Amino acid sequence: MQKELISKLINPYTGNILEYLNGGLADCQTGEKFPIHGNIPVLLRKGSVAGRNKIWQKKYDRLSYVYDFFFSLFSGFKKLYKESATIMEIESNHQVLETSIGTGKQIENLLSQDKKANFYGLDISYGMLKKCRRNAQKLGLDLKLVQANAETIPFKDKTFHVVFHFGGINFFNDKKKAIEEMVRVAKPGAKIYIADESIKLIEDQPAILSHFSKHIDPELLAPPLDFMPQHMLNIDKRDLWDGKFYFISFKKPEETH
Ligand SMILES: C[S@@+](CC[C@H](N)C(=O)[O-])C[C@H]1O[C@@H](n2cnc3c(N)ncnc32)[C@H](O)[C@@H]1O
Repeated sequence: MQKELISKLINPYTGNILEYLNGGLADCQTGEKFPIHGNIPVLLRKGSVAGRNKIWQKKYDRLSYVYDFFFSLFSGFKKLYKESATIMEIESNHQVLETSIGTGKQIENLLSQDKKANFYGLDISYGMLKKCRRNAQKLGLDLKLVQANAETIPFKDKTFHVVFHFGGINFFNDKKKAIEEMVRVAKPGAKIYIADESIKLIEDQPAILSHFSKHIDPELLAPPLDFMPQHMLNIDKRDLWDGKFYFISFKKPEETH
């Protein structure tokens, strides 16, 4: 099991450090145990995933088998990913976390633009993570993965130079908590990026896809600017892919002593 990954992890429910024990992880203080499946620590308490998070976890577990194929059918997605990667400031010595990494499409895209780094990913769907692990193996990439909820990130405070999220936050139970968690695990001065679909994507989509989106509450697709923690710097919101996605970037302030 990757030492580098474990050294950065915490129990997301207590904040305590985790240690490797008998093939799994254990909370150093309470002894609470978490399994590791196929090299992926599972940092979710039984019964802790509820509401929309549970619905999407199940959907993505099922979708994981066809996700990459589906993705490859739409050239618009490629344009979108290219556009976003161009904006993201990533350096080769950076520790970078993607929350809701899915099958790793954005990491693949960053690498194709020569944006290399030490990448970490979390996702609530084990199905998506299994695909992601396979995709990383094909690329020869040492990608560190955990199964967790983006609203309770199992990493220590101030760990990452860059934290980003692409394509899931609109339907989270608690967007505010998810953003606060991204900020918590970011180092002072780190860049944070958050992107997801806008209402225009639903309005412009081909009729064949409208079946999937007919029950979507348009309010959920608003950029989560109201949930930004205080004191964040350089907050910027722009449109990507002709307005079909919003892309928010901001910086965590440096610490002053
Ligand atoms: C549209 S996919 C995007 C995947 C990837 N970021 C990409 O760009 O291809 C959305 C992902 O969000 C994940 N997700 C949904 N709710 C989540 C939550 N509460 N915590 C972590 N991941 C979540 C899903 O399992 C899915 O993999």
